[in-house]
Amino acid sequence: MIGRLNHVAIAVPDLAAAAKTYEQTLGAKVTAPKDLPDHGVTVVFVELPNTKIELLHPLGDDSPIAKFLSKNTSGGMHHVCYEVEDILAARDQLIKDGAKILGSGEPRIGAHGKPVLFLSPKDFCGTLVEIEQV
Ligand code: CO
Repeated sequence: MIGRLNHVAIAVPDLAAAAKTYEQTLGAKVTAPKDLPDHGVTVVFVELPNTKIELLHPLGDDSPIAKFLSKNTSGGMHHVCYEVEDILAARDQLIKDGAKILGSGEPRIGAHGKPVLFLSPKDFCGTLVEIEQV
């Protein structure tokens, strides 16, 4: 069902410092910060040859990232995103196999303008999983 690793998302307490670490210490190409109010995050994309890293920082009062950072004060891996060809077929198969889909269960438009769903970490080795239709 799953295809390529689309991205790994890392929540960070200081976005500028994190972007600098990836750009200057690790020598990666990073984008300018982008506010995504619908998702409650400001994001910097780190472009790697085979995938992307997304540095996430809370935006607004009810950001889902704020709670994560309150528990992981120096930041941490927030989720991994796998590509799927057909998100509704993938969702239906996952539900059939007993996996829990977070939220309404209907795909919403993710940070890349494509439909996404999030799957409960309880079903996937303690890791929040995003699937994205590409
Ligand atoms: Co993501």
